[in-house]
Amino acid sequence: MVYWQPWAEISTAVIILNTLLSPYLRNENPSYSPPYYPSPWTDGSGEWAEAYEKARNFVSELTLLEKINLTTGTGNEQGNCAGETGSIPRLNFSAICFQDSPAGVGSADYFVTAFPAGINVASAWSRDLAYRRGRLMGEEHRGKGVDVQLGPVVGPLGRAPEGGRNWEGFGVDPVSAGILAAETIKGIQESGVVACAKHFIGNEQERYRWAAESATFGEPIAEGYSANIDDKTMHELYLWPFADAVRAGVGSVVCAYSQINNSYSCSNSYIINKLLKAELGFQGFVVSDWDAMYGGVSSVFAGLDMAMPGDTVLGGTGYSFYGSNLTIGVLNGTIPEWRLDDMVTRIMAAFFKVGRDKTRVPVNFNSWDLSQYGDAHHLVGQGKGTLINQYVDVRGNHSSFVRELGAKSIVLLKNTNHALPLTGNEKFTAIIGEDSGSNPDGPNGCTYRACASGTLAMGWGSGSVEFSHLITPEQAITNEITSRGNGVVTAITNNYAIDYIQKIAKVADVALVFVNANSGEGFLEVDGNIGDRNNLTLWKDGDALIQNVASINNNTIVILHTVGPVLMTNWYDNPNVTAIVWAGLPGDESGNSLVDVLYGHINPGGKTPFTWGLLRESWSTHVTTNRSTSDVFGTQIDFEEGVFIDYRDFDRQNETPIYEFGFGLSYTEFQFLNLSVTPIYSSSSKYIPTTGHTKPAKPAGTVSISSTISDYVFPKGFRRIPLFIYPWLTSSCLKNASGDPEYGVSVDSWPPHGATNGSPQPRLPASGGPGGNPGLYEALYSVSVTIQNSGQRDGDEVPQLYISLGGPEDPKVALRNFERITIPANGLHTWTANITRRDISNWDPARQDWFVSEYEKIVYVGSSSRKLPLKFTLPKL
Ligand SMILES: *[C@@H]1O[C@H](CO)[C@@H](O)[C@H](O)[C@H]1NC(C)=O
Ligand SMILES: *[C@@H]1O[C@H](CO)[C@@H](O)[C@H](O)[C@H]1NC(C)=O
Ligand SMILES: *[C@@H]1O[C@H](CO)[C@@H](O)[C@H](O)[C@H]1NC(C)=O
Ligand SMILES: *[C@@H]1O[C@H](CO)[C@@H](O)[C@H](O)[C@H]1NC(C)=O
Ligand SMILES: *[C@@H]1O[C@H](CO)[C@@H](O)[C@H](O)[C@H]1NC(C)=O
Ligand SMILES: *[C@@H]1O[C@H](CO)[C@@H](O)[C@H](O)[C@H]1NC(C)=O
Ligand SMILES: *[C@@H]1O[C@H](CO)[C@@H](O)[C@H](O)[C@H]1NC(C)=O
Ligand SMILES: *[C@@H]1O[C@H](CO)[C@@H](O)[C@H](O)[C@H]1NC(C)=O
Ligand SMILES: *[C@@H]1O[C@H](CO)[C@@H](O)[C@H](O)[C@H]1NC(C)=O
Ligand SMILES: *[C@@H]1O[C@H](CO)[C@@H](O)[C@H](O)[C@H]1NC(C)=O
Repeated sequence: MVYWQPWAEISTAVIILNTLLSPYLRNENPSYSPPYYPSPWTDGSGEWAEAYEKARNFVSELTLLEKINLTTGTGNEQGNCAGETGSIPRLNFSAICFQDSPAGVGSADYFVTAFPAGINVASAWSRDLAYRRGRLMGEEHRGKGVDVQLGPVVGPLGRAPEGGRNWEGFGVDPVSAGILAAETIKGIQESGVVACAKHFIGNEQERYRWAAESATFGEPIAEGYSANIDDKTMHELYLWPFADAVRAGVGSVVCAYSQINNSYSCSNSYIINKLLKAELGFQGFVVSDWDAMYGGVSSVFAGLDMAMPGDTVLGGTGYSFYGSNLTIGVLNGTIPEWRLDDMVTRIMAAFFKVGRDKTRVPVNFNSWDLSQYGDAHHLVGQGKGTLINQYVDVRGNHSSFVRELGAKSIVLLKNTNHALPLTGNEKFTAIIGEDSGSNPDGPNGCTYRACASGTLAMGWGSGSVEFSHLITPEQAITNEITSRGNGVVTAITNNYAIDYIQKIAKVADVALVFVNANSGEGFLEVDGNIGDRNNLTLWKDGDALIQNVASINNNTIVILHTVGPVLMTNWYDNPNVTAIVWAGLPGDESGNSLVDVLYGHINPGGKTPFTWGLLRESWSTHVTTNRSTSDVFGTQIDFEEGVFIDYRDFDRQNETPIYEFGFGLSYTEFQFLNLSVTPIYSSSSKYIPTTGHTKPAKPAGTVSISSTISDYVFPKGFRRIPLFIYPWLTSSCLKNASGDPEYGVSVDSWPPHGATNGSPQPRLPASGGPGGNPGLYEALYSVSVTIQNSGQRDGDEVPQLYISLGGPEDPKVALRNFERITIPANGLHTWTANITRRDISNWDPARQDWFVSEYEKIVYVGSSSRKLPLKFTLPKL
């Protein structure tokens, strides 16, 4: 999502041109996305039956205009929330409110919690912590009146280590991302708020995602980039966590700004109709990312159920691809009634599924203005003197959870001779680095946190949240030491105060050096980084800072607040660097979480959710920075590496990382013993590809559509808010009401073949319920392993189960399961986990289904992707 002011209208000519060129595209490079129509209608399968019934009943009584209202945002900055649909005054049904972010209630008054970022959930490797974070975030959204929380993120996954928004999601592995997203979704939705999995799909970089955005940085492009992803990679990597999200019952999905195979995500029938709705059986609704739209009727057919924030161009044109254009599209017979009804049923099913009919409170904050009284319609300065912020404090005791997750997500990468934990009785502690201190402009001093000033506790963009408070490391460490009463502690928060840093570092018993690297969403630039990072080095000369201190202090401890991996080649093996701690983006209790680990109140158990390579060249994947100069095509990003990203890439290249995926130390020691694997499938258990046909589409409505167009024109005397998006028409002449110069112009192959066909459709073999064919989730083997804590402290270990699928195109090992477990000193714990059919399957593009290959499958268990002491060859099915 992005927010800013208008730019030039996007020409529809480009879309027409694309349509005309499609025969050419089919035969030549660049990649082509095949059509898939009609858009599948929801059937209430899985756990959706009750919600579906309620939704159908609700929709059956709506008029055409009321239905349209629910499918369309009323315009950017026209209401309180980041996005709001129209309302149904007749039923006292208020606008559906959409709000960022994946890490808490974004853009609200400050009485909210800034939770640790998704990447910290990934490094904590805990289903329980993921669930509890989701639950508390959901409670806060509910308390603020938000209907849909725009999160969690499972795309980007982290193909390119510099990808600007990787930190919003759960790390580079599709399996752990899927597991943690599912827990997050359950947490959010069980607190009565609709979750939204995003961004669908393949938007692995910020740069060149959107022409309108790129132009603002002086880098004109004709079209957003195209992520060209083959079918096998799509299924085995990028779609995988979305399947888990759908299986967990996620109510909504946001499509992306970018293209897949040269077709924009929000109008790509293959990804929405086929992959998401037909194959994965998604029962909720698809909503556009903010203005990530290029057409109305074409998007309806491609499966897009809702336009947000409604206007054709962000910032307010008063026109919409949906809104009255949909009214017109239904009235002129182009859009079948069943399709509109399906859109609205999906929206309302999500609403009922999470119980919003019982949990709703009126919105009590405003995203655009922090004042108590202000404009109801910020964009146009109307509705003055409205109570827009009630400063409802929804934080409860959530800061104790934030502190806990912040500490449990810390990854101890290096710890020589028990440098950590500190005793607290050090005579002289030096705290060095800007990253330990506060931002002189305050923790919210930069819009959407788009700056690099003071300690880094969150990346920038729509994934950010306002801090109600931010405990800095300087503050927390100083408290810890002074409360014990004897030590000296000096903080220098200027990286460039070199003389003084040297003077202090020379005499300190321990030098805690703080460094960071930031990234964010592509609509904002920080220090020349347009969302994505320009490099993998530390910011603010962090390398020099560390090296400077380590050259004179033999107990230098490095604390990293980074959005992802950084190059530490110059100093990680310096013997004077006695410990390295990655704390990620810990949210508002940052300093307290860190103190808990540094001083041993908590034994660290986090594991790195990405690989730390030695050189930039150690990774094969990167952000594409060569801009397309084509008039027609966006930058082509061929995902040629297939499923080989991060550790799978390092393993394939035989490239030794500094710290591998899954690695993290503890203050105690663990051993892995006694792996056993038992088949638990019965002789009758086999995978059954789904066959047969769906039911026919059926309109839900009982309110018939009038053939008198003037019934749909704005009521006489209606006071319109300027630039507001309404469902009504301005004229009873449909062409005039649309105002679209292309109105009624017939284009070859329009509407797309099959798009309006509501008859029973063949079901896909890999389909069968939310998440896909249920056979995929059948447990085939049970694995058990014993973990021993052989040290003197209680601690957490994360047994990680990897599988080698054995084929030449398969990764050496791929993560399939894990659990974070607390084991007392000298204690033993037996961990059991299942291996499902999906865990040992590959995607067959020819059959369009999953299958278990002939190759030998080997199970590995250990403490990281490269420390796998136990293995077992699976008996053949
Ligand atoms: C993109 O093109 C590849 C290669 O032809 C194909 O395997 C894949 O299914 C296509 N995906 C989409 C979403 O069009
Ligand atoms: C559509 O929503 C708008 C904004 O909430 C509201 O003013 C209007 O009355 C609604 N229209 C209908 C037909 O319910
Ligand atoms: C309409 O809904 C609001 C809450 O959104 C509630 O306070 C009010 O009482 C309702 N009015 C009627 C007439 O039901
Ligand atoms: C209808 O959509 C077209 C683009 O397809 C747009 O140019 C026009 O302004 C829209 N009309 C209204 C009334 O929103
Ligand atoms: C926070 O409060 C809830 C109840 O309001 C309680 O169940 C929970 O234990 C408290 N959490 C902490 C960490 O104090
Ligand atoms: C990498 O980017 C950061 C942030 O913009 C900058 O401070 C640093 O100097 C850059 N490093 C190199 C080697 O250019
Ligand atoms: C380590 O620190 C000592 C001072 O304690 C210094 O003499 C030595 O040169 C440093 N070693 C390195 C490799 O920087
Ligand atoms: C570190 O330096 C201090 C003096 O500055 C010295 O007492 C201590 O032995 C040194 N430690 C190591 C491990 O070299
Ligand atoms: C029907 O309405 C839609 C939406 O305004 C428009 O794009 C399309 O051209 C119209 N079709 C016909 C045949 O008039
Ligand atoms: C493993 O699968 C069996 C059979 O489906 C199930 O009963 C059990 O709860 C599963 N165990 C775990 C740890 O998921």
